[in-house]
Amino acid sequence: MFVRIKNVRKKNNEIMFIKDLQNYKNKEVTLKGWIYNFRSSGGIMFLQLRDGTGFAQCILNKKDVSEKKWNEAQKITLETSIELSGTVTEHPKQPGVFEVQVKNFKIYQIPSEEYPISKKEHGPEFLLDNRHLWLRSSRQWAIQKVRDTLIRATYEWLRQHNFIKIDAPILTPAACEGTTTLFELEYFDLGKAYLSQSGQLYLEAAIASFGRVFDFGPTFRAEKSKTRRHLTEFWMMDAEAAFVEHEENLKIQTELISFMVQKVLAENQEELKILARDIEPLKKVKPPFYKIAHAEAVKKLKELGSDIKEMDDLGADDETILTKEYDKPLFVEKYPAEVKAFYMKRDPQNPKYVLNADLLAPEGYGEIIGGSQREDDYDELVKRLKEHKLPMEVFQWYLDLRKFGSVPHSGFGFGLERIVAWVCGLQHVRETIPFPRMINRITP
Ligand code: 4AD
Ligand code: MG
Repeated sequence: MFVRIKNVRKKNNEIMFIKDLQNYKNKEVTLKGWIYNFRSSGGIMFLQLRDGTGFAQCILNKKDVSEKKWNEAQKITLETSIELSGTVTEHPKQPGVFEVQVKNFKIYQIPSEEYPISKKEHGPEFLLDNRHLWLRSSRQWAIQKVRDTLIRATYEWLRQHNFIKIDAPILTPAACEGTTTLFELEYFDLGKAYLSQSGQLYLEAAIASFGRVFDFGPTFRAEKSKTRRHLTEFWMMDAEAAFVEHEENLKIQTELISFMVQKVLAENQEELKILARDIEPLKKVKPPFYKIAHAEAVKKLKELGSDIKEMDDLGADDETILTKEYDKPLFVEKYPAEVKAFYMKRDPQNPKYVLNADLLAPEGYGEIIGGSQREDDYDELVKRLKEHKLPMEVFQWYLDLRKFGSVPHSGFGFGLERIVAWVCGLQHVRETIPFPRMINRITP
C-alpha cells in the first residue's frame, strides 16, 4: 500500500533558506535563524539573520506590524532565535543582494544574558574558551564551509579514481609515526594501546584486497610543542595504492590537491570574501607542482640564511622561508632515511635517502602532505624495524603483507587542518577545526 505524503509546504509562505533567496524575488518566504546583528533607525529595524546557509538583512517597518508586535521586536538582542516571514526584494543599490521586508515574526528565545562575543576585538584565548559560541561568527562559518567543501572534494576525486574508503582503527597496538608523539592508554588485560597517528599501515593491508584505498578520520599526536601548525587531534586522509611507485604517487597528490582547491574556488566565493582571502595564489594551484630534492632544498635554505645541516629534517621555519620562494605547492623529495619513518623505501640510486616526498603549501604554509613509496621487501623491512628499535611481535601482521603477494606500492597522508588553514589564509590551525585540541586546551 502506498501512503501519499502531503506537500507540507505552504504555497505562499514557504519555509526556505537564505542561500535560495534569489529564487524568490517578490515572493513571500519564511526564514528561521538567529539575529546576528541589528540596528534601528526611526521606525525601521534592520535585522541581520543567520540561518546556517547564509546571512540576510530583514527589514521590519513599524507601519507594517501592529503596535504589540513592534514593541515585542524592541526586545530582540544578538542571538535571539526567530522565525521571520515577509516579501523578498532585491537591494536597491546592490544587485544580486536580496532582503526580506518583514510582515510577521515569531521569537523562539531571547537570550537570558548579554551575548559574550561582541563586535569588538577579543583575544584568542577568550574566543577559544567560548568556542561553542564563537563558531557562530561569520568568519568561523566561512572556515567550516570551506572545510566541508575540501572534504567533499576529497571523497569525490578519490572515488573518481577508484579509491574506496577503508576505515582504519583508532585504537592500535603500535606506533606508525615514531614513538615520541604517542598517546598511550591501558587496554584491559592486554597492556598498552595507543591512539592512531595514521591509518597507513592498515591501508597497506587493504590494498591487496581493494587495490586503491583511503581512510579519513581523526588521528592523534601528543605534540609537546605549541605551534601554529600542530593539534593533538586532527583529521588525516591517508591514501594507499598498489602498483604505484614514487613518481605516480606525486602525480596523484598533485591532481587531488588541485581538484580540491579549484572546487573551493568554484563553490566558496562568498566564504573566501568573508575571510578576505586573496584568491590569486589559489588560482595557480594546478598541475604541475614544483619538485626539488631534499639535498637541493638544504642548499637553497642555506642561501636563504637557515642553519640547516645536510642530513637534517626541514624545520617549520625552514618550510616557511622555502615556500615563500614558490608561487605553487612544492614537493621536497628524497629525504635522508635517518630522519624519516621505518616503512619508507630506500632510493635505489642512493640508499642514504628514501623515496618519499613532503608536499609544502606556498605562501609560507609548509607541509600539508607526507607520503612515500613503501618498503615491499620482507628482509629489508625486518632490518628497518630493528634499526628503529620497534617491537617485532606487533608488526608480524605487517610483515606478512611482504610474504603473500608483495607489490610495489605507495601512499600519502594529508592533514585536513593544514590544508584548510592554507586555503582560507589563516594564521593558525586552531580555527580550522570545530573544537581544537592542543597541548594546553581540551575544552570546550
Ligand atoms: O607526515 P605525517 O606524519 O605522515 C604520516 O602520518 C603518514 N603515515 C601518512 C601516510 O603516508 N599515509 O602526517 C601526515 C600529515 C602531515 O603532512 C600534516 O599535514 C598532518 O598530517 N599532521 C598534522 N596536522 C596537525 N597537527 C599535527 N600535530 C600534525 N601532524 C601531522
Ligand atoms: Mg610529515
